[in-house]
Amino acid sequence: MEGLKKKAIEILKNNWQGSFTIPCAGLYPFQWKWDSGFIAIGLAHFDMAKAKKEISTLLDAQWGNGFIPHIIFHNESDTYFPGPDYHSTYLHPQASKKYKSTGMTQPPVTGFVLQELYRIEKDKEDTLLFIEKVIDKVYENHNYFYQNRDPFHEGLVYIYHNWESGTDNSPMWDDIFETMNSPEYSFKRRDTAHVNPEQRPSKREYDHYLHILEIAKEHHYDDKKIAESSPFLVQDPLFNSMLIKSNQSLIELYALIGNNHEKIGQLKEWQKKSIRAFNEKLYDKELGAYIHYDLRNDKSIKHISSSSFAPLFAGIPSQERAQRVIDTLEEKFGGKDNYLCASFDTTSDKYNPVKYWRGPVWINLNWILYYGLKKYGFQDLALQIKNDSIELVEKVGFYEYFDPRKEIYRSGDCKGYGGRNFSWTAALILDLLNKK
Ligand code: DGY
Repeated sequence: MEGLKKKAIEILKNNWQGSFTIPCAGLYPFQWKWDSGFIAIGLAHFDMAKAKKEISTLLDAQWGNGFIPHIIFHNESDTYFPGPDYHSTYLHPQASKKYKSTGMTQPPVTGFVLQELYRIEKDKEDTLLFIEKVIDKVYENHNYFYQNRDPFHEGLVYIYHNWESGTDNSPMWDDIFETMNSPEYSFKRRDTAHVNPEQRPSKREYDHYLHILEIAKEHHYDDKKIAESSPFLVQDPLFNSMLIKSNQSLIELYALIGNNHEKIGQLKEWQKKSIRAFNEKLYDKELGAYIHYDLRNDKSIKHISSSSFAPLFAGIPSQERAQRVIDTLEEKFGGKDNYLCASFDTTSDKYNPVKYWRGPVWINLNWILYYGLKKYGFQDLALQIKNDSIELVEKVGFYEYFDPRKEIYRSGDCKGYGGRNFSWTAALILDLLNKK
């Protein structure tokens, strides 16, 4: 395992850009919000100064309204589409003047990442001083979500673009895209110059992605207008689980810092309402899983993905419900033929083990599931998911995503998919190897 740790550290060192880390060279040449969080966890294991810098840089790009963008364009690069000019976030009056960015966000992992840094670092006092300096920005980000992304005051926040989910081209969105009537845009994709198009979203899917973006731009990224007019408006169980988990971390960190009763009180209120609504609205009894809700078309999306299990990480289900959810996981994602955990229901006809978020295994979701399973005492399954993650990386390297089918690795010439030397894969494998 020492060789694997060494390689992981080497990747993180190579992808470090002086004040932030790129997810991987070529394909993703900027700073991504949720990548940054997972990467900071890896950095904390060997260079806490860099871990802090990674987070400070991300938070420095926060907008005046508390919003944190999903990509921060730190440099000019023509290897990525759509770039800063396309996003044109200067249209929003409170957008950062210092950094160019997108006008959409990604799962709010930063709160629990701060707590991970605190857990990993031996010098607690110094880490807490750092956390004290930045924690209000994360709080403001959560406040932004509850004020602007929850139009019916349910305690559940929406995403207005599939790129906000982090699970970009999940089959979850297929039916919504069918309702959209998106124009056929002409543009030059860059991702397919780096990665086999078979492993990336289709041209038609990109039309939909751009169409939602055009509507947001037309409204100058105004949240109220987006809530009224975006054809894509979804309450996502992964996104809301990350918010709830981070709320809890903020409560515990503020308590350590002291003198923050009001914020703790507010966070507890959000927490109570969110967890209740989550269990009432996003749980499907028949499927035995948490699912997405299409707020625009007012209906549940009746599919199961790896996002369906993220609530375990945030302590959302009761023990009894957690057992039911685990049964579903084992029935639809497990078995001896597949590595855990496919990103989409392997028994569905929409499952594709090669294509990005339509089936492949992702290490960040495995990491989330590992800690979720441990929390509820499912030790064996937790260990299996950890061992599967390590075995995949040992077999093919630190890729962005992996084919779940065990059979295809038998020939020995199988590769990982997407970007190579992928930062969060390195960071989270390092974390799994270093922690019990
Ligand atoms: C991409 O370009 O595919 C990114 O995942 C968007 O965030």
